Amino acid sequence: MIEREIEFYDYGYDGEGVGKAGGKIIFVPCTLRGEIADVELTKKTSSFCKGRVVRLLRESPERQIPPCPYFGICGGCAFQHTSYSNELEIKKQLLSKQLAKVGYNSEITVVQSPLEYGYRNKIKLFVGYGAVGLKEKSSDRVVDIDNCKIASPMIDYAIKYIKNFIRGNNLYSKLSNVVLREENDFCTIEFVQRKKCEIDYQGLRLVLGEKYGIFESFGNEIIRGMRTLCTEEMGLQCEFSPRSFRQVNSGVCKLLYDKTVKSVVGKNVVNCYSGAGVLSGVLEKAGFNVTGIELGQTEHNDAQRLKELNGLNRLHNICGDAAEMLPKVGEKIDTLIVDPPRRGMSKDVCATIAKLNFKRMIYISCNSSTLVRDIQRIGNVKVESATLFDMFARTGEYETLVTLKK
Ligand SMILES: C[S@@+](CC[C@H](N)C(=O)[O-])C[C@H]1O[C@@H](n2cnc3c(N)ncnc32)[C@H](O)[C@@H]1O
Repeated sequence: MIEREIEFYDYGYDGEGVGKAGGKIIFVPCTLRGEIADVELTKKTSSFCKGRVVRLLRESPERQIPPCPYFGICGGCAFQHTSYSNELEIKKQLLSKQLAKVGYNSEITVVQSPLEYGYRNKIKLFVGYGAVGLKEKSSDRVVDIDNCKIASPMIDYAIKYIKNFIRGNNLYSKLSNVVLREENDFCTIEFVQRKKCEIDYQGLRLVLGEKYGIFESFGNEIIRGMRTLCTEEMGLQCEFSPRSFRQVNSGVCKLLYDKTVKSVVGKNVVNCYSGAGVLSGVLEKAGFNVTGIELGQTEHNDAQRLKELNGLNRLHNICGDAAEMLPKVGEKIDTLIVDPPRRGMSKDVCATIAKLNFKRMIYISCNSSTLVRDIQRIGNVKVESATLFDMFARTGEYETLVTLKK
């Protein structure tokens, strides 16, 4: 069904245009404030609709031609149809609306990505039947791609060879996805199998050369190939599992960590959800006593190795659930840092934080909805400052750092 002449007056959570259709709110990707379009309905619920543009009737002066041929089909990017400066303005407005819910109406500093395109050091290519690429938004359909504009040049280069390799060897039913990750001029390629099987990668190794390292996994296990990636990050020697969590935009990550270090007060820091420990390492080198708490055993092992390799004697890494470990280390905290996954923190962690004494809390979040929910759950904290880091340029996501006090 086509809804005629929808005018867009605002932006939704993922940067989609918001209009009204038949008295209901409608969300339409790739539209801008002030534009008018005929829209095909793709979803209808009792409270809202979703749709896609079939004809643009009035264009915003902010509109531009997207450089990627898959934009609008592939679910990866959300903002290639407008300038980068307009994207940052829209993201700032979205964050400002969220933070107003917890009483923060002051300035938001925006830190842009040093690279608008070619910044992403990790992408996951899904393997569908006859297709290798990213998924359509809100769908399981795989969009077949030859390249990706936001991926780093090394990753972008490898995509078409991987695709040809999968097609040439008819591996569609054997693989579920392929994860490419670049660190300091070396790129790992993880072939994730649907069921355990033997695959000969010699042909692919020959075309890609020694700057690419192939390994295979099944479930949570690496079954063949490289298990350790030796690299240097933020001046620290690292030996990581190629599977452990890393920030995807190295340029923005450095700026985020710099800001975190500058925001710390006092001597004793608890870094909760600490991943492979690079931020903990950077904080220790800046002179703080750091306790890192991380649930993932792989990430914890990496953090321990980082401590050994760099002689970080003031760093103590704990492996466990934040809900269980935070009450045990909560005695003498000056600054509490949390950087949870998109789903945010559990109710138990929020309740523990409400009872802790600290001079400052730094909450780093890649999901402003759960950030706001968690601040409301903690209850007795107030936002002092907010910075938006555009970790995921051209997509609908961004990273936020807020400092809070009791
Ligand atoms: C967004 S990452 C942050 C990583 C780190 N701060 C960095 O900059 O690399 C979130 C981390 O939280 C960990 N995590 C998830 N649930 C957790 C929990 N309940 N307790 C502790 N850590 C958890 C994940 O394994 C992941 O490494």
